[in-house]
Amino acid sequence: MTKPSKLVCKECGEEYPVELRTACEICFGPLDVQYDYEAIGKQVTKEKIAGREKTLWRYIELLPIENRNNIVNLHPGFTPLKKADQLAKKLGLRELYVKDDTVNPTYSFKDRPSSVAVSKSVEFGLEAVGCASTGNLAGATAAHAAKAGLPCYIFIPADLEQSKVLSAQIYGPNIIAVEGTYDDANRIANLAANKYKWGLVNINIRPYYTEGSKTLAYEVCEQLGWQTPDRVIIPLGSGALLCAINKGFNELVKLGFVYENKVKICGSQPDGCAPIANAYDGKSDIIPIEKPTSIVKSLAIGDPASGPEALKIINESRGFADSPNDLEVVEGQKLLARTEGIFAEPAGGVVIAALKRKVEAGEIDKNERVVVYITGNGLKTPDVLFGKFPEPTRAKPNFEDVDRAITELKRKGSK
Ligand SMILES: Cc1ncc(COP(=O)(O)O)c(C=O)c1O
Ligand SMILES: [Zn+2]
Repeated sequence: MTKPSKLVCKECGEEYPVELRTACEICFGPLDVQYDYEAIGKQVTKEKIAGREKTLWRYIELLPIENRNNIVNLHPGFTPLKKADQLAKKLGLRELYVKDDTVNPTYSFKDRPSSVAVSKSVEFGLEAVGCASTGNLAGATAAHAAKAGLPCYIFIPADLEQSKVLSAQIYGPNIIAVEGTYDDANRIANLAANKYKWGLVNINIRPYYTEGSKTLAYEVCEQLGWQTPDRVIIPLGSGALLCAINKGFNELVKLGFVYENKVKICGSQPDGCAPIANAYDGKSDIIPIEKPTSIVKSLAIGDPASGPEALKIINESRGFADSPNDLEVVEGQKLLARTEGIFAEPAGGVVIAALKRKVEAGEIDKNERVVVYITGNGLKTPDVLFGKFPEPTRAKPNFEDVDRAITELKRKGSK
């Protein structure tokens, strides 16, 4: 098996061996895992990959795990790329796809980074794992910890949706609800990671953690017959997901699996917490948001760790960063559900709302091949939708009354 060759500082270029390291010792910059692409290119072919397991581990040579026995496998990834003809028609687009990551083991894309990071923590021989989370990562990390048989410590902001807390609690982690924002929870988790020998997946395992998400680029290209889309739209929290997807496209070019990366990389975040989109619009530096106010809690990261890098990628690829409001987000969730039958959490609504706004503004060409990343399942966040629909029409338990109800529904003009 090929091995990741080194860690390289994204800011100053300093190199480190593949070890437990959060950031660059010299400039505190983020670290990137690098590989020997020449060696990988000799070992792996598209045909070989095609015959492998239908999970993200089909790209094992491009993931930072050195011994297969350390893989903690809940079978994440290789989720469907769905041609979204109904939605495309409604918006007037020619070729639109939904990368449906709502169907992962814990119902969000976070199974990808968490699976790689928990596996790497096992490889490092760490005694426990955990994370700071806006909700989805909590469930993903707790599930992988359960499978690995490791204790798990999770730090969340205390106002997180109950359903999200519950969907982590079922796996039995220790949860600490910090009475503050996600950024407070994250800062305190950093201190805990320094004090104890824990692998906090998005903190001291971060260089390896972000590698899991780049499989979202590999899969889309493979599912398009090893071609890149013209444009992708990605939800933005810390910005790590967007950076990882861009890295994935670049790596496929290095391996010669796709011809070039000309993908326009676009991001979207809710207007109640839009530090990256604000900087894009204002063409300025990122100014952290102290108190996020949005129903999109999974993207409520006021001080995005990968924000500057994400902004650079968006600008250089000639993409966009957008920030729809909460009303547009719910409309986006409804639009996706009512055209494609996919129930996304608000982070998905943020992406669909941006797509709609930008098509209507004429900023997306109707002939482009567009992929939208839908990264979390709506069943995890029912709270945002309570009270948003009329009560079901009631009827007595006999056909006459049910028939009366049907006539009433038809009179009201329902389909
Ligand atoms: C459903 C969902 N989509 C997107 C994101 C954004 O990911 P990132 O923080 O890597 O930008 C998150 C989490 O933060 C999330 O939970
Ligand atoms: Zn550095």
